[in-house]
Amino acid sequence: MQKITLLLLFSAIVLGFGCKKEPDFQYYYYTPEEQAVLSQYLNLPENPVTYGKVMPTYLGFTAGVFDRPVPDYAKVELGKVLFYDKNLSKDKTISCASCHKQELAFADNAAVSIGVFGRAGERNSIALASVPSFGSAYDVTGASLFWDNRAKTVQEQSKASLANVKEMDMSMSEVVSEVNVQPYYGILFKKAYGDPVANEERVTEAIQTFVHTLSSFESKFDQAADEHFKAGNIQNLTFIHDDFGKFSVQENQGKTLYMAQCATCHTEVATIPRLPFASNGLDENPTDAGVGGISGMAAEMGTFKVPSLRNIGLTAPYMHDGRFQTLEEVVEHYSTGVKPHVNLHPNLKNANGTPRNLNLSVSEKQALVAFLHTFTDNKLAYDERFFNPFK
Ligand code: HEC
Ligand code: HEC
Repeated sequence: MQKITLLLLFSAIVLGFGCKKEPDFQYYYYTPEEQAVLSQYLNLPENPVTYGKVMPTYLGFTAGVFDRPVPDYAKVELGKVLFYDKNLSKDKTISCASCHKQELAFADNAAVSIGVFGRAGERNSIALASVPSFGSAYDVTGASLFWDNRAKTVQEQSKASLANVKEMDMSMSEVVSEVNVQPYYGILFKKAYGDPVANEERVTEAIQTFVHTLSSFESKFDQAADEHFKAGNIQNLTFIHDDFGKFSVQENQGKTLYMAQCATCHTEVATIPRLPFASNGLDENPTDAGVGGISGMAAEMGTFKVPSLRNIGLTAPYMHDGRFQTLEEVVEHYSTGVKPHVNLHPNLKNANGTPRNLNLSVSEKQALVAFLHTFTDNKLAYDERFFNPFK
């Protein structure tokens, strides 16, 4: 009897403290009744897994910029189900994951993704593995989501993706009613929000929480940079220009080229691009106004989001319209294909205003491509925590 009382007291203490933290030590996360309902539709872990992330040390100098609190497990799990749920689209064939595929770092291999009723969109899907790494830095840099920077947060973006007639074609009230109809959501909302009711704010917040967990910091680049950083105990970004011991001669050669020619826009460490948007000289007369199409500003016509290059080896085809199939073609663009344009960014212009093509040799191009592949984080692409939960 006494033992049982003690045990109960002990569990109460553990659970009491546990509420605010990750519920790692709750053995039966769902009740048998909840399991019985959920297991008809979903494969969810019986016990919580952690979605916390460990940042590489070399990014330590950015402390505060990338840090996020360990996300609430129940919200991530709910967000994941919403992300993969085709019921949230008009014809019930499309989910967020249809155009954001895990094995492709949550990008799409179609130049333009196909949404509900086979409708084709106008732009290439953007890899999501890099979205969360920006974190609050979005506010600092003014960088934003979408090729034309039209959304500031994933919550805002999610509403746009759900509503887009060429993507999921659902109003938020349709989404909420659809969610309330599905038998599994009551349980998941109760876990995440304390009661089973879905509403617009909760749906989009849960999706955002999930998208923010998709950070990618385990590429060869991260490992090589971290090893070098720790060995030298270096306190600022200059270490990034040294040769990395973990890299081949070719990868180091590519890194040197990248740091000199590309990092000025895309950033040295493949996190927050240095510029929120720019023209990189794809077309003399762009048909898509990009950022200018939203802002109406002449100086922004034909400019696009400077994308993160994390996992770039997985996210072909490339550019806002998916015009390039391979990284070789992308590098050829910067080597010989930069076109004149009124808003061509100064980083790609000569002093006299003409496009500055890099005119790289064959071996330089190969080195640059080899280096770009070091941004690939295969762990993320095959992390089972992010697998499709639907049966
Ligand atoms: C039919 C395909 C399709 C579907 C469905 C879709 N997306 Fe996208 N997503 C895209 C395309 C294409 C873009 C780029 C569009 C643009 O910039 O105009 C994009 C951009 C984004 C971005 C911006 C990333 C960045 O760094 O700028 C996020 C975040 C995102 N999608 C998340 C989602 C979520 C969450 C859902 C589900 C609610 C979703 N997407 C559904 C195709 C899709
Ligand atoms: C002036 C700034 C600037 C410079 C310099 C620059 N880029 Fe870009 N890059 C961009 C912009 C802007 C885009 C998106 C353009 C678009 O889609 O319309 C882009 C797109 C890309 C993409 C495609 C990304 C995707 O997700 O589709 C790759 C790869 C890339 N750049 C690599 C490089 C490399 C390698 C270099 C150096 C040789 C380089 N960039 C130099 C601005 C720049």
